[in-house]
Amino acid sequence: MFQESIRNFAILSHVDHGKSTLADRFLELTKTVPKEKMRPQFLDSMDLERERGVTIKMQPVRMHWKDFTLNLIDTPGHIDFSYEVSRSLAAVEGVILLVDGSRGIQAQTVANLELAKKENLVILPAINKIDLPQADIEKTKREILDLLGEKEPFLISAKYGTNVEQILEAVIKKIPSPKGNSENPFKALIFDSKYDPFKGVIIYIRVFEGRVKKGDKIYFLKNQFETSIKEVGCFFPQLREKEKLEAGEIGYIATGIKEIEKVKVGETITNINFKEKVLPLGGYKEPKPMVFASVFPDHSENFNLLKEGLAKLKLNDASLSFQSQNSPVGRGFLCGFLGTFHEEITLERLKREYNLNLLISLPQVVYKVILKDGKEKLVFTSKDWPETIKIQKSLEPYVKLEIITPEKFLGNVSTLLKTIKAKHIKTSFFGRETFLIIYEVPLREIIFDFHDKLKSATQGFASLDYQMTDWREEDLIKLEIFIGGEKEESLSRIVPKDKAFLEGKRFLKKLKEVFPAQLFALPLQAKISDKVIARETIKAKRRDVIAPLYGGDYTRKRKLLERQKKGKKKLKERGQIRIPQDVFLKLLKSD
Ligand code: GTP
Repeated sequence: MFQESIRNFAILSHVDHGKSTLADRFLELTKTVPKEKMRPQFLDSMDLERERGVTIKMQPVRMHWKDFTLNLIDTPGHIDFSYEVSRSLAAVEGVILLVDGSRGIQAQTVANLELAKKENLVILPAINKIDLPQADIEKTKREILDLLGEKEPFLISAKYGTNVEQILEAVIKKIPSPKGNSENPFKALIFDSKYDPFKGVIIYIRVFEGRVKKGDKIYFLKNQFETSIKEVGCFFPQLREKEKLEAGEIGYIATGIKEIEKVKVGETITNINFKEKVLPLGGYKEPKPMVFASVFPDHSENFNLLKEGLAKLKLNDASLSFQSQNSPVGRGFLCGFLGTFHEEITLERLKREYNLNLLISLPQVVYKVILKDGKEKLVFTSKDWPETIKIQKSLEPYVKLEIITPEKFLGNVSTLLKTIKAKHIKTSFFGRETFLIIYEVPLREIIFDFHDKLKSATQGFASLDYQMTDWREEDLIKLEIFIGGEKEESLSRIVPKDKAFLEGKRFLKKLKEVFPAQLFALPLQAKISDKVIARETIKAKRRDVIAPLYGGDYTRKRKLLERQKKGKKKLKERGQIRIPQDVFLKLLKSD
């Protein structure tokens, strides 16, 4: 049968454990990419991915080897992009779980393993980077054994290609061929999509039943509309047209659709003739953005460009959410992200791919408020925080935080956790000296710089993962920030009442460090319900206007100084001080 020669699989690992490098070796071994075109981390095709050395997007590729068709999906390892991973898993029958032998099991290894287990996928564990002198193969083996049971991992060096062929052999022997019958009614899952100016929306699909070809009329079961197919094909990894796609295959359909919002990842498609008969596939859990920030174009005429950019990015990144928003800065969008790294990457993509300069607010987590009249309100920006007298109670999202750390850093991790509001739930260990600790914490405590702090407390050896659990009550209050006497809504923040005073002081100190000095002294204030609780002043920037004048002409010097004084006064009266975008980024990083 046709399907017997197909294997669909993904590579999973913690960030930087070597997925893209292993994919490179596969591409070479199977001669999918000619030698002269090969470059490291070939599947990381975005400039941003190459510069940062991280995978942001999953990338499918089809390879041919020993009479088999191998469909591989390379996935990102960063926690903010785990939604990409869960989507890839719905399209494959097995995974290679790659563990860096010099690091051992880390948090995303465990999180990804759980996802793969839920999908009942075949798991092939492999220890990578065995060429490194610091690789501790025995320790990593023990950890894998504890996590997976009896399995003997492959020992490989993705960099040098050592034992990589063994893994491909195992993919063929141990991962089952896809089920499904090409004679059944067509049914496929959309696991990703992107926009092409000529071909419209291109959907990435896994065909579960039947077949599909150019010219067929397909029907989107959830959004209930039809379209005629412009082209079908698969990934090499660039798109290459094919006559048809059949049950078990991974490929793409160019739909010609220009209305981007019509297409949703996770949707099931079928042939128009079977629209009444075919039941939708499981789809995915909707990702829940938890971090929100307001994003505005620097010029109002770019609003539509920003709108278009966000819509196109969403097609390629289903975890992004946005809705339009009006504010004194102008028209913009309230955007939801899975984390601050996701936010940073999205803003960078908007800047590069759509040439947009953006103004952003400080991100915050979403809060819930129960008003005195019994109504419930989700608050995405501090601007929408209700007046204190109207609030009955406020709640914030809690997460289950899992940290994996080597034993020797356990003390440092505990000390760090004492600095935030965290409740210890459980400590366990696997492979002897690797500890898994579980805490319950408010999301707000870990969303900004906790990850960096954890890394510096453990020389980069500890890693974390978290999942939202529930909403819990907390006495929250709005802390308002004033710059030069003007309320700066984009810097306001919601904080626990008992921390407001310290928080105000700390924040102003930071703001003072990163805000550019003006030609006049600039007061900074933090207020709660109109009461000033902290203040700082940024000293005026001095420009030496008389420096070019040598020698004695006193009247000339005085004139220049007078003019400078007047200029400063005018600037001050004009009031409006723009906050440069890099100030937000600096505040975000160091906050
Ligand atoms: P993300 O996609 O960002 O999660 O990273 P990744 O898992 O795809 O890792 P990537 O392939 O980008 O490799 C991370 C780093 O490890 C790169 O600098 C690679 O050159 C290096 N690396 C990967 N495999 C090996 C190996 O077998 N040996 C050595 N010494 N280095 C390796």
